[in-house]
Amino acid sequence: MSIVRVHNFSISLDGFGTGEGQSRDAHFGHAGDRLHEWMFATRWWSADGNAGVDDAFVQRHDPGIGAEIMGAGKFGHPGWEDEPDWKGAWGANPPFHTPVYVLTRHTRPSIEMEGGTTFHFLDASPAEALAVAREAAGGSDVRIGGGAKIIRAFLAEGLIDHMHVAVVPILLGRGVRLWDGLEGLERTYRIESTASPSGVTHITFARTGA
Ligand SMILES: NC(=O)c1ccc[n+]([C@@H]2O[C@H](COP(=O)([O-])OP(=O)(O)OC[C@H]3O[C@@H](n4cnc5c(N)ncnc54)[C@H](OP(=O)(O)O)[C@@H]3O)[C@@H](O)[C@H]2O)c1
Repeated sequence: MSIVRVHNFSISLDGFGTGEGQSRDAHFGHAGDRLHEWMFATRWWSADGNAGVDDAFVQRHDPGIGAEIMGAGKFGHPGWEDEPDWKGAWGANPPFHTPVYVLTRHTRPSIEMEGGTTFHFLDASPAEALAVAREAAGGSDVRIGGGAKIIRAFLAEGLIDHMHVAVVPILLGRGVRLWDGLEGLERTYRIESTASPSGVTHITFARTGA
């Protein structure tokens, strides 16, 4: 059975999934790279990286995934929709290697990249987008790639089966929060926490349906 998964979504201790002031040169705004430094230190990221707890979690990002859904804010900085040549922030060979559905009011023709990634642009509800992505995934799982607003929208509609959030020991103070409007979310998930020596706490949410 195909399930819907979130992996490696990094938030600050005060719950922000990105900083304030996102731009073409600062995809995470004033947060810079601080939400993802733990990831850059893993073997997943580079051959001489750490193979410990953080690596064990981050390695689960790719296997079994047949499609990704992401928000317009992950695909590009504010205003990307006015740049006809914008193809995302990941270069010619993005690290997805599957169809990727970008949820946005600013649709454009699909963009085929190297390495199996094709960006498709959908103006649709989370449930509608999920139906399209599931079909494309052909029985494999669908990853909800972020950012915070999109994950929040899928959580609010009860569409996420498994979620891994990495809580990074920094305080951002401002940006886009993950948890707003999700009071009581814990009631429908079995939640486990794993502390890493890096200072990151990995929290997994597995839907119970209760
Ligand atoms: N912390 C992490 O691990 C992580 C992971 C991925 C990305 N990020 C960062 O997160 C930031 C982007 O996140 P974000 O929260 O600002 O934006 P987002 O979740 O990526 O996208 C939100 C946008 O998607 C469009 N949208 C379409 N349907 C929607 C729906 N049902 N619900 C909500 N949005 C919908 C809207 O844009 P339109 O006006 O175009 O319709 C909305 O403004 C970037 O800085 C990115 O680099 C962080």
